[in-house]
Amino acid sequence: VRSSDGALSDGPGIPGSGKSPQARPSEALRSLRWVDTDQGGALRIIDQRRLPASLEYRNLTTVDEVIESIRTLAVRGANSIGAAGAFAYGFAVRDGIAADEAFDKVVGARPTAVTLRHGVQLAAERYEKNGDWRDALRAGDDIIAADADECRRIGEIGSRELADATNILTHCNTGILATAGIGTALGVIYTKHAKGQKVHAYSTETRPLRQGLRLTAWELGRNGVAVTALVDGAGPAALHQGIIDAVIVGADRIAVNGDTANKIGTYSLAVAAKENGIPFYIAAPLSAIDRNAASAEDIPVEFRSGEEVLDAPGVNQNLDTWNPAFDVTPAKLISGIITPEGVLRPPFVDSIAKVLAPGTAR
Ligand code: MRU
Repeated sequence: VRSSDGALSDGPGIPGSGKSPQARPSEALRSLRWVDTDQGGALRIIDQRRLPASLEYRNLTTVDEVIESIRTLAVRGANSIGAAGAFAYGFAVRDGIAADEAFDKVVGARPTAVTLRHGVQLAAERYEKNGDWRDALRAGDDIIAADADECRRIGEIGSRELADATNILTHCNTGILATAGIGTALGVIYTKHAKGQKVHAYSTETRPLRQGLRLTAWELGRNGVAVTALVDGAGPAALHQGIIDAVIVGADRIAVNGDTANKIGTYSLAVAAKENGIPFYIAAPLSAIDRNAASAEDIPVEFRSGEEVLDAPGVNQNLDTWNPAFDVTPAKLISGIITPEGVLRPPFVDSIAKVLAPGTAR
């Protein structure tokens, strides 16, 4: 399905749910959502591999299609793959795959973002209650609605925290494309813009797949936010030269001590921010926190094909490569973690324990 502006109408919801779709973000662009089709519905994603050259949508109707889309980053970003994972699980059990097998298959699609596991877990819990696969798909829809709401809250809280920061450096893509709402780190930038606060984004390229250049610069520009593109190697230099007021990035997995996995290149920005006295923030939903990860050592980092590194004309395709998709920034380099429940501050071991404590509003 192609669209020139991404403005598509809502589908009527999960089959048999008897309810209209939940509250959705008002943005025309949506990285993923459920749509009604003649074949009983589909998960419709923006194929992010094609952006920004063309805005194309794909309808996914099987677990293998969703897994392939997650692996190849057609659908990407921690929040979006959490929701996609729930739909994938629903398709799997609908098609007769045993619940345990379905769980492992989908969770194994990408290892670092714990949001994927959390999304599949919710779908599995819902499915196991009544053995109805449609309940797993409804979980996906619920994750989309909750994520949109959490992004709005992160944006609001972050825009208060960073009210005086104009020039904000961000890495990778944490926006509309990476979530079901306005984004996490980019949600803060969008909210500042919407409130009329001065804001100018600096978007690092994000090699090897260029999410910053292809996706972040594109979506910010499309929504009227001033943006400057820079190569990854220029990020620390920009922090050293005093042109940046704050850094804000997303998270794929946060250990309970605050160590945070995010796109490769995040760590060097955090080091440079610390060295130059510039605040460095993470923005993420609480579902990015892994209660089972005590520290960085418990966070699995995905390694991807060397072909991504060598993708340039004339380059020897037999070169040895080292291609981690993520790095882990130690908690000591992080000024604050902006969540829908407020800004968590160091020492994170305490602030995270408090926000995760039973009975705390979530
Ligand atoms: O490999 P990607 O493009 O999925 O990596 C995305 C990131 O690293 C994001 O910063 C993170 O997932 C947060 S998205 C709200």
